[in-house]
Amino acid sequence: MDRIRIVGGHRLNGEISISGAKNAALPLIIASLLTEEPLTLENVPSLADVEQLIRILGNHGVDYALHGRRKAHTSSSYARVMRFEARNIVNIIAPYDLVSRMRAGFWVIGPLLARMGEAEISLPGGCAIGTRPVDFILDGLRALGAVITIENGYVHARAAKGLHGASYHFPKITVGGTHVLLMAASLAKGETVLHNAAQEPEVVNLAECLTAMGAQISGAGTRTIRIKGVEYLSGAQVKVIPDRIEAGTYAFAAAATGGNVLLRGANPNHLPIVLEKLQQAGARVDWEEDGVRIRREAPFITPVDIETAAYPGFPTDLQAQFMGLMTRAQGTAKITETIFENRFMHVQELARLGAHISLAGQTAEVEGVPLLQGAQVMATDLRASVSLVIAGLMAEGETIVNRVYHLDRGFERLEEKLAACGAEIERLRS
Ligand code: EPZ
Repeated sequence: MDRIRIVGGHRLNGEISISGAKNAALPLIIASLLTEEPLTLENVPSLADVEQLIRILGNHGVDYALHGRRKAHTSSSYARVMRFEARNIVNIIAPYDLVSRMRAGFWVIGPLLARMGEAEISLPGGCAIGTRPVDFILDGLRALGAVITIENGYVHARAAKGLHGASYHFPKITVGGTHVLLMAASLAKGETVLHNAAQEPEVVNLAECLTAMGAQISGAGTRTIRIKGVEYLSGAQVKVIPDRIEAGTYAFAAAATGGNVLLRGANPNHLPIVLEKLQQAGARVDWEEDGVRIRREAPFITPVDIETAAYPGFPTDLQAQFMGLMTRAQGTAKITETIFENRFMHVQELARLGAHISLAGQTAEVEGVPLLQGAQVMATDLRASVSLVIAGLMAEGETIVNRVYHLDRGFERLEEKLAACGAEIERLRS
């Protein structure tokens, strides 16, 4: 298993190009199931999760080409243009061994049901950050007329006469639920109104994609989305938005090391609270023509409290990284996680580097320390692992991050991007 070795204490200075967003690319790729025509996506990141989703879609019969070449070797190119073509859906079953490796694989239930009238999808199960049920996704599909049964760990959804429009109120904001219902409602008969929908930029990107395919959607990016179903969706060409979580991560890393980094291609409009909190922590944020510049000239990091929330609130996907930054603050910061019940696994690992963090329920109190010291640490999930990288960049001496495959799910060329800005970081291959 690969590991990452970091020798801390170097300021990050330079430029980092922000990749296409993993969490936008995944639903866009799934949307290709809605049409027999090709869907071309620009700026697709090269990530383990994308490759896994391609395997899941391959099982349903989706063909893909990279830069115009059919089933080309994909691992060595970035900002990829990929074409997905679901001319014939050959299988409406998504088996356990595929869906259990990536939860977003469950979202194929929406387009399969809408296009084929039937889908049989393995329940994804829990994961490291929490139980993550799919009850609202299923209730929403029932509201659109699906008959759903659950047997032997599989959800069987049927709509023999097709789906119909309906009004559905999500009891809790769910990004995946909003994606699935947007896709399903686009091919349903009549109008669907989704209340308490997710407003994340990734939802807006999916709505743009569906609209380019011929769907009639209004209100994406607000809490109420209206979808007038159409009979047929066509192919389209759509660009994946820049990854706001990757941008936020490198912004924290720049601030953590007292550096000066231009995040090229980042969209500051997608990071409202994140940049505000970063400024409160003592960093300067400048919007430049082609990105955002983050620098910290202040001699110390000011402690800042955060509470995660659905967009436009502070993203849960940046909670661990912000905690990494706060481990060196001059004072105590309170970090409250409200989205997932078990998203503090980085706490024990940060403690191995010398961080002082106490946990009480869903709140962590981070008492900044003057010095972190390098150590061996273990990545437990995608965002937790990158918080260890941020801490390692600040720590004195050598930090080894084990189980790097978590990082590879969502960060493209992490060590290359950081090394180009002066970090002493390398991948130890095994
Ligand atoms: C998406 O997951 C992201 N994944 C997650 O990013 C992100 O943390 C999360 O949204 C929240 O922003 C992708 O986009 C691929 P949710 P999703 O449905 O859609 C509960 C990362 O690190 N819920 O918005 O699965 C759920 O348990 C990943 O990149 C139900 O109770 O998350 C959670 O508490 C991790 N029933 C809350 O809602 C449901 O039917 C929000 O989850 C659905 C969700």
